[in-house]
Amino acid sequence: MDDGALNGRRIVVGVTGGIAAYKACDLVSTLVKAGAQVRVVMTRNAERFVGRLTFEALIGGPVSHDMWAERADMEHISLADFAEAVIVAPATANIIGKYAHGIADDLLSTALLVFTCPVIMAPAMNTRMLGSAPVQANLRLLSERGVRILEPAEGRLACGDEGVGRLPDTATLVEALEDALGVASDSLAGLRVLVTAGPTREPLDPVRFLSNPSSGKMGYALAAEAARRGGAVTLVSGPVALSDPRGVEVVRVGSAEEMHEAVQARAGTVDVFIGAAAVADWRPVEASDHKLKKTGREELTLRLQRTPDIIAGVAAWEPRPLVVGFAAETEELLAHAEEKLRAKGLDLIAANDVSRLDVGFTTDANEITLIDATGTRSEFPIMSKAEVAGAILDRIEELLARGRESGR
Ligand code: PMT
Repeated sequence: MDDGALNGRRIVVGVTGGIAAYKACDLVSTLVKAGAQVRVVMTRNAERFVGRLTFEALIGGPVSHDMWAERADMEHISLADFAEAVIVAPATANIIGKYAHGIADDLLSTALLVFTCPVIMAPAMNTRMLGSAPVQANLRLLSERGVRILEPAEGRLACGDEGVGRLPDTATLVEALEDALGVASDSLAGLRVLVTAGPTREPLDPVRFLSNPSSGKMGYALAAEAARRGGAVTLVSGPVALSDPRGVEVVRVGSAEEMHEAVQARAGTVDVFIGAAAVADWRPVEASDHKLKKTGREELTLRLQRTPDIIAGVAAWEPRPLVVGFAAETEELLAHAEEKLRAKGLDLIAANDVSRLDVGFTTDANEITLIDATGTRSEFPIMSKAEVAGAILDRIEELLARGRESGR
């Protein structure tokens, strides 16, 4: 969060009836601490999960909840007059459906039809419910009308299922508000940032490939954060199931060779390069142009060859950008990361342990240690990938400033 960016800004937080309603308390508390003026609107079902009093204590005033409360003003109108931005977190299937179809049967759904400022919906619900045709159609409808729909996070859900449907963390919600309010910082303005993300796929035949579990979340979070800071960002992405980050040029590729070509095509036009992609180190020497048959075979021997080292190639460019890599390790994390930093000629490396289930590949969280070319180490606690991206970009900005001072 940018210091002072939300100070004095007028935000309406809508809370609807899902288990994640308790997380809205942290959002409201964070916004209040940042100096924002916050009004909270709760639905009747939200009050089944969190007491009105909790929000009233946090904002130091009454919570809006009753369409028919005796007041001097019409509250749905006064809320709209007040708001510079609105976020509904969590947004249930019910409020999404009502908003999409113009149904106004309580204070929040009525006020939503009056707001003319940016509106953000943060859906949170069971994975199957989220994926259902009506909910998806309603989300599409809202998105087409300019409502900002936040991507739900993945993990264990209240119902016990695993999957997509969790409310994103507070940092992501606050960033979305900053974005909507146009208060994103401009600390990377004028700089061109190239990020790689996701896995690569190395084909064996038209239907099989060698790959890894990278979801792209770490690289996408970095691209989104760099764009939020005003950078001109290009994201070269392997095959992932994520939507394009706002304000980022996305180039989609399949294999390591394609990623290499897309990166090399931008030589000389980049100020900062961040290699978050899990690039396959090996590819089959030959890829069959038809499906390999199993008949009559108990074994298949593959001959593999190395793929191009994309990041080492970037570190050899002249002029050379600031080059930041990741080390995905399963043992001797820091020693191996230092070795990679030196061997590939990097300015900074983020070491992460990919043998863990709670961080690294596919998760919404990560835990990194940053090591720079002088050997200085900075350890960070486990954080959301959005927060990790913020920490990495803070360090990149420090290194750029140091480079400018020394005339590099
Ligand atoms: O995508 P997620 O699910 O969010 O997971 C995030 C992540 C674990 C993939 C990410 O945090 C990460 O660690 N990315 C780098 C993965 C990797 O390939 O690490 P490595 O230690 O094998 O490679 C070191 C560096 O060289 C990396 O910056 C990598 O992008 C780069 N590399 C590797 C091989 C190659 N042929 N070309 C490269 O540029």
